[in-house]
Amino acid sequence: MSRLNRTDRPYDIVLFGATGFVGTLTAEYLAAHAPDDLRWAIAGRNEQKLEQLRDRLPGTGKVGVLRADVGDPASLRELAEHARVVATTVGPYVTYGEELVAACADSGADYLDLTGEPEFVDLMYVRHDARARETGARLVHACGFDSIPHDLGAYFTVRQLPEGVPLTVDGFVTADATFSGGTFASALNQFSRVRPMLAAERDRKRHEPRLVGRRAGAPTGVPRFAKEVGAWALPLPTIDPQIVGRSAKALERYGPDFRYRHYAAVRHLPLALGGAAAVGGLFAAAQLPPARRWLSDRLKPGDGPSAEKRAKSWFKVRFVGEGGGRQVLTEVAGGDPGYDETAKMFAESALSLAFDDLPPTAGQVTTAVAMGDALTERLRRAGITFRVAASR
Ligand SMILES: NC(=O)c1ccc[n+]([C@@H]2O[C@H](COP(=O)([O-])OP(=O)(O)OC[C@H]3O[C@@H](n4cnc5c(N)ncnc54)[C@H](OP(=O)(O)O)[C@@H]3O)[C@@H](O)[C@H]2O)c1
Repeated sequence: MSRLNRTDRPYDIVLFGATGFVGTLTAEYLAAHAPDDLRWAIAGRNEQKLEQLRDRLPGTGKVGVLRADVGDPASLRELAEHARVVATTVGPYVTYGEELVAACADSGADYLDLTGEPEFVDLMYVRHDARARETGARLVHACGFDSIPHDLGAYFTVRQLPEGVPLTVDGFVTADATFSGGTFASALNQFSRVRPMLAAERDRKRHEPRLVGRRAGAPTGVPRFAKEVGAWALPLPTIDPQIVGRSAKALERYGPDFRYRHYAAVRHLPLALGGAAAVGGLFAAAQLPPARRWLSDRLKPGDGPSAEKRAKSWFKVRFVGEGGGRQVLTEVAGGDPGYDETAKMFAESALSLAFDDLPPTAGQVTTAVAMGDALTERLRRAGITFRVAASR
């Protein structure tokens, strides 16, 4: 496994999909917070939009512009060969994402995305993990609100508990926020692909080495009133528990027998039932192509919540961890989860891969495995709360 150093490639970071909603926020975050000597470029399919974006960014002269289109695999290869780290917002990833993963795995560039699509992550594991291990590329999916607060929050919680004993962690998510056209399109696409998603999961299981001598998993919980957090807890079948489970499989620190359960926490039962019914309705509609088309016309790619709406949005994930006779309650919290904080998490992840002294990893890895301590510290410095609320 070889790591790229700064003389190997012209750019430390290339941000692909920089002209989209979350891409623009990420570019703005990098322009405002990256170290002065960062060598970075924005990339996308529309050169004019890219140049307009570059002209709006502070320190504009330093930012490169690269044209690349997912329909032109050669342009993606060239992009990957120009960067030490490639961060892409071009989704739905199951539709648009694979060629870039392949290009990064082949060229040894580190790869980051914002996917919340389990099918995509499983397919990329089966098809590109082995090649990335050979070249030293780290393929890190889900570097936004999916799944950083959950993955690093579970990691943070585990580190408050004794070593070498069975551990359980339950995560309870609360948030007040809305979503963009890009997120809505990805969610609808995912809801319409249950069979391929399950097939990809089975295929991954056939390829993945078995865990020997330890157990780690993320079973679905049951709806209940969780008195630990004073709220109704509904199992949340997002990609997050899978990611936490993978971190637990990879890291001995999670102990000999680890279990994670992931919930939405809602204070009032009618609200919980209403939310579940709304998601169920969306899921049912996504199965019918005309209804799916009608829904996707409601919110266009590129649209997203206004700065005022985002300023009022927030998230909080509470974790209850137990093991070895100890119990801890921890919390990860911040502002607008889907966009402002996602852009921050995404940009900080790219900076961490480019510059931090990290454990040696390669292939498909989670955020906790690739960057656990360094990224937690970066996010804390950037204003995201990681704290122990109670412990006994
Ligand atoms: N993990 C999380 O928590 C989280 C949070 C937010 C978003 N997301 C995900 O991030 C993704 C982006 O969301 P968004 O709201 O920013 O979407 P968006 O505004 O629609 O942006 C999509 C970007 O993809 C680009 N693109 C589309 N087709 C392309 C092609 N053929 N070649 C090159 N570029 C292409 C678009 O370029 P143009 O500008 O030229 O159209 C745009 O830059 C979605 O998959 C969403 O689900 C995840």
